[in-house]
Amino acid sequence: MDIISVATFIFLFFAGRAVDLIHTFLNSTLPPVAIGALLFILPPYLFLKLLLFAFRSAFSEDVAGKVVLITGASSGVGEHLAYSYAKRGACLALVARRENRLRDVADMAYQLGSPDVVVIQGDVSRAEDCERFIDRTIDHFGRLDHLVTNAGIAPMCMFEDCPDVTKLCPAMDVNFWGSVYSSYFALPYLKRSRGKIVAIASAAGWLPAPRMSVYNASKAAVISFYETLRTELGSEITITIVTPGLIESEMTRGKFLSKEGRMVLDPQMRDVQVGVMPIRSVEAAAEEIVKGACRGDNYLTEPAWVKSTFYWKVFCPEVIEWCNRLLLVAGTQSSERNALNLRILELTGLKRLVYPPSVQFPDLAERSR
Ligand SMILES: NC(=O)c1ccc[n+]([C@@H]2O[C@H](COP(=O)([O-])OP(=O)(O)OC[C@H]3O[C@@H](n4cnc5c(N)ncnc54)[C@H](OP(=O)(O)O)[C@@H]3O)[C@@H](O)[C@H]2O)c1
Repeated sequence: MDIISVATFIFLFFAGRAVDLIHTFLNSTLPPVAIGALLFILPPYLFLKLLLFAFRSAFSEDVAGKVVLITGASSGVGEHLAYSYAKRGACLALVARRENRLRDVADMAYQLGSPDVVVIQGDVSRAEDCERFIDRTIDHFGRLDHLVTNAGIAPMCMFEDCPDVTKLCPAMDVNFWGSVYSSYFALPYLKRSRGKIVAIASAAGWLPAPRMSVYNASKAAVISFYETLRTELGSEITITIVTPGLIESEMTRGKFLSKEGRMVLDPQMRDVQVGVMPIRSVEAAAEEIVKGACRGDNYLTEPAWVKSTFYWKVFCPEVIEWCNRLLLVAGTQSSERNALNLRILELTGLKRLVYPPSVQFPDLAERSR
């Protein structure tokens, strides 16, 4: 070993120790300083947010004549977002795979006040479809003001029960990549109109509900993607990240992606998962989402009370995990029917009170369309 190598070795040794010392110092000093700064900043910050909320509510965007593209508009939340925008006089581009359903939604949107509606069949998990439906919207209307990335599916099974893990990929392809692709192709037009993205994520992005691992992860990815995009874009476009709780839709009627990779209707599994949690009416939820988007909210949780679970997740994540395990997993080795969640639902008879009629009687809802 020559003298230079020895000197380099000694330098690296002490530099490494110095970095370790810096980390040890930060580990012990930064958390109390950060908490102190947070407590100091929180009151004026919340006051400022309240003022801005009042200002944004007073000068909410008027979407009459503006162009709104909604993915997953053939049912549930997307369908009713279309109606809420239609009532405000917005022009609509409706995207989903079931074209016949989209045509019914378009007819209703016209009746509710939309001046012009285009129906575009497309699969959001295919980048080429996303490029095509954005191009079609621009060809037809010449502009785009709001992009609502709403299309989604929910796989439902315990992770280790899935016989072929690749059958879970569509959740990421539709929920995450579908949102990413459509946003990518829409961005130039949204920047031109100083428009908005309304990203329908989910409270599942922070709540670790069992049997929904890949769905929850896809929604966490959606939240993180749009938060990062917002940081990159600044005020060029507004991004409203919506984190719904339980909303009346085909999904809450029990339409899930099975472990075999097929879309199935399984209301009993829905009962196991939902238990006595109240399901919000889709009309009311869609109305709140469109109001929040027009106001330019950064975040919106609907129903709003679901946000309180977020604080528990941040401060006591173990409690959230323990409750989910107790209600949804404990005792289900022999049968999912043994889940405490389902037993409470059946014992209390609360289903009639907390589930909207279309969720309790999906056949009736389907026939009345
Ligand atoms: N309902 C809830 O409690 C709840 C809670 C939190 C978040 N969400 C989110 O809300 C969004 C809407 O779901 P929903 O509850 O309204 O359920 P839904 O009634 O099942 O609607 C899902 C929509 O997505 C469309 N879709 C599915 N795969 C698609 C694909 N590959 N390409 C294009 N469109 C596709 C469906 O249309 P086609 O089948 O015709 O393609 C349908 O219009 C989802 O992102 C969901 O994760 C729902």
